[in-house]
This record gives sequence, structure tokens and C-alpha cells, in this order.
Amino acid sequence: MAKKQKAKRMWGGRFDGELDPRIDRYNQSLPYDQRLVEEDIDGSVAWARGLRRIGVLDAKELGTITKALERVRREFAQDRFEAEPGDEDIHTAVERRVVEIAGNAGAKLHTGRSRNDQVATDLHLWLKKACDEIEGAIASLQRTLVEAATAVGETAIPAYTHLQRAQPVLLAHHLLAYCEMVQRDRERFADTRKRADVMPLGCGAAVGSGFAIDRAFLAKELGFRKVSANSLDAVGSRDAALEFLSAASILAMHLSRLGEEIVLWASKEFGFLRLGDTVSTGSSLLPQKRNPDGAELARGKAGRVLGRFLGLATTLKGLPLAYNKDLQEDKEAVFEAFDTITGTLGALEATLAGSRFDADRCAEALEGGHLLSTELADYLVRKGMPFRRAHEVVGKLVQTAEQKGVDIKELDLATLQDAAPEIGPDVKRALTVSAALRAKRAVGGTAPARVKRALAAWRKRLAR
Ligand code: ARG
Repeated sequence: MAKKQKAKRMWGGRFDGELDPRIDRYNQSLPYDQRLVEEDIDGSVAWARGLRRIGVLDAKELGTITKALERVRREFAQDRFEAEPGDEDIHTAVERRVVEIAGNAGAKLHTGRSRNDQVATDLHLWLKKACDEIEGAIASLQRTLVEAATAVGETAIPAYTHLQRAQPVLLAHHLLAYCEMVQRDRERFADTRKRADVMPLGCGAAVGSGFAIDRAFLAKELGFRKVSANSLDAVGSRDAALEFLSAASILAMHLSRLGEEIVLWASKEFGFLRLGDTVSTGSSLLPQKRNPDGAELARGKAGRVLGRFLGLATTLKGLPLAYNKDLQEDKEAVFEAFDTITGTLGALEATLAGSRFDADRCAEALEGGHLLSTELADYLVRKGMPFRRAHEVVGKLVQTAEQKGVDIKELDLATLQDAAPEIGPDVKRALTVSAALRAKRAVGGTAPARVKRALAAWRKRLAR
């Protein structure tokens, strides 16, 4: 219900006229920044304690304010908070209510503080928590990848370059490649967290608090490792949010690649992965369909996260110091990136856990494509032929095999020896998938013994 009387605003003192509703609506951030309510109240509790320490509040006032803040926390948690027309954002909404409940004591809460240091503090608190949650969710996907890699044992598939069959590789090795990729994402979030772990509270609107607040005490109360050293920087910077979006973008990009592999693998053309009933969707028209919607969306939603990075970077570019209202655009960006990332991680995890690899189809894929050509070249090198020469000889043999309509490993000994007299009957042992795999025993290779060790190392690492 629109109220007839003028909306009460925290900053209303110098204004007579009512705010134009078009500006009011445009300016409103409460619908989305109420997501910061916990951080905002935690920040206010710490701030009130800080004010008590320097004598701005007496013990009774501190008690009254803290109780009021906890009551507002409950109102939000139980969805009972009633917003008023003047509640521009979460900070004004909480404070307005605290003043309502706590009267004069409540009206002292904002002493020496600005919404500018307040919102930056809330954001940093939220970012730290978000980094932790994403790191945990990535670890969970890694566990699923390790389980899948364990379940497929020594199943091999073709490794692809240019999406053309290249050489045999263990499917487990392929899955563990994603473990490595997202491990770097975990590290990026851990690093982002360090920059968020610096407290802006106590920097006032721009130049510092007018009261000699003990910021080290505040940081301790709120669990920050450091306090910001320059007030203009603290209230006017959002690179912590941008860095979060950057880490999220790279992760989203990685997840889109895993999504794409699942889409390919689940196609009839590849057939490596059989999607389970709980993780595939049907078509409204085509009864035979089993669609990998989760994996497709993992691919598609990367666009949002990348877009949010570019959006915020553009907002920040060219802003003068210190706080500008443009900075309010940070929140929807990080919230959407967080929701997209956690949703994508969950969907991929469910898809992998709810599907199974088809060993027969994997084995079939190893048949065509002259997949052991490089093995033959390596065989010739072991017989003393320089690699460049061996490459040429085998190239010719691929041509011969193609003319005969067979795979290179099916050529008879006489044909092979015709091309290179160095070739002996032992070549048949070299030209098998398992020999090809075993040969890749240098660190980082797909030799089954290597992969087994890598799996064990991952299992240990993820158990911690
Ligand atoms: N809602 C604002 C934001 O998100 C809070 C800070 C507003 N400060 C101000 N002086 N109007 O950035």
C-alpha cells in the first residue's frame, strides 16, 4: 500500500519534496541486497561494540542496540520483516527498524559510520563466505570425478586433437584432467579470498571515521585478517568483487568444457556415456530423446558469468574516487555469478554421478582412425630410425591402409616390411592399445600405473 505521507528516509533532514518515484524505484537495492542481511547485522553488532569501547555508547545502550539487531535478524530469517517505502537498501532498512525498536539508543548506531564503509564491509564478508562455499563445491565435484575415474578402471578411449582421433588414452586420465583444471580454480578462489579479507569498516564516507574507533578490534570481531590502509581506496574500490567474477569466469569456462564433453559423449555418435533417467530429460515431440540438459546449461550459462565480469569491469572503469552510486551494481553481479556457479557445479556432479560409461562403445571407438600410427613410428625409432623419417614411412603406410580400407594395425607383416625392412614380427606386440598406453609412463602420461598413482593421490588430497 502506498502511503500518503512522506516516506521516512535516513537522509531526509535537508529535503522537503518527496523523491520522484521513478528515481526511487531506480535507486532501490533492497530487493536484492537483503541477501546481505546477516553480514549487515554482524557488521552493526561489531560497530556498536566498537562505539561502546570508545565511550560513544554506554553499556545499557549497547545492550539495547544488540538486542534490537538480533530481533531484526530474526524478523528477516522468519520472513516477517516489513519493508517501508523509505527503505532504500538493506542498510537503511535494518537501521530504520533498529531505531524503531531501540529509540534513542538505536539512533546512535550510525555514529562515525557511513553506508559507504558499511556496504564495502558487508560485501567483503559475503565474498569470503562465497569463496569458501565455491571451494567446497568444487572439491565435491572433484570427488565425483575421482569416483567416476575409479569406476571406469582401465577403460580407454581415443584422445582427440582437433576433435580428430589421436591416440588411446585412459578415460580415467581424461576425467582427472578436469580435476586438475578445477583445482586451479580452487586456488584462484582461495587467493581471491585473501583480497576480500581486508576490512573497510571504520573508513567513514570517504576520509575516515570522525571517531577514533579501534579498527583492529572491529577486524577481530568480524574475523578479518587486516584493516584497509587507505579510506578512499577502501570505500571506492570493488576489485575484490571483480576478482571474484574473474575466478568465477575461468571456472565457468572450465565447467562449460566439461559440459560440452558430456554432451558429446552422451550423443549416439560417441555413445561413451549413458545418461541416467534422473539426469536426462525427454523431448515433447521426439519419444526417443534423452537430452543432457544439465550439461548443456553448464555450457550455456558460462555466458552469464563472463558477462557479469565484463559488466562490472565496465562499471568500474573510469570512476573517480571514492564512492559512487555506480558501485551498487557490484551486488547483482556477484550474486548471479555465485548462483550460476553453484548451480552448474551441482548439475554436473549430478549428471556424472547419475550416468555410466559404456565400455563397449569406448572400445569400439578405438578401432578406427589409425590410432596406433604414432606407436608404429615410435617402434621404428626404437629400431634406430630417426623420428622424422619414421613419421614419413608411417604416413605412407596410413595411405596404403586407407587404400585397402583397413586400419594401420591390420596391415600384414609383408606390407609393413616393404615400407621399412627394420620391422620385425615383434611389431604386433607394439601395435596394441595396451602397449600404447603402457608406453606413456613419463610423468603426466596416461600409463595405467601412472593413472593409478594419480587417482590415489587425488583420493588422499580430497579426503583432507
Ligand atoms: N546501496 C548502496 C550500495 O550498494 C549503499 C551505499 C550508499 N551510499 C550512499 N551514500 N548513498 O552501494
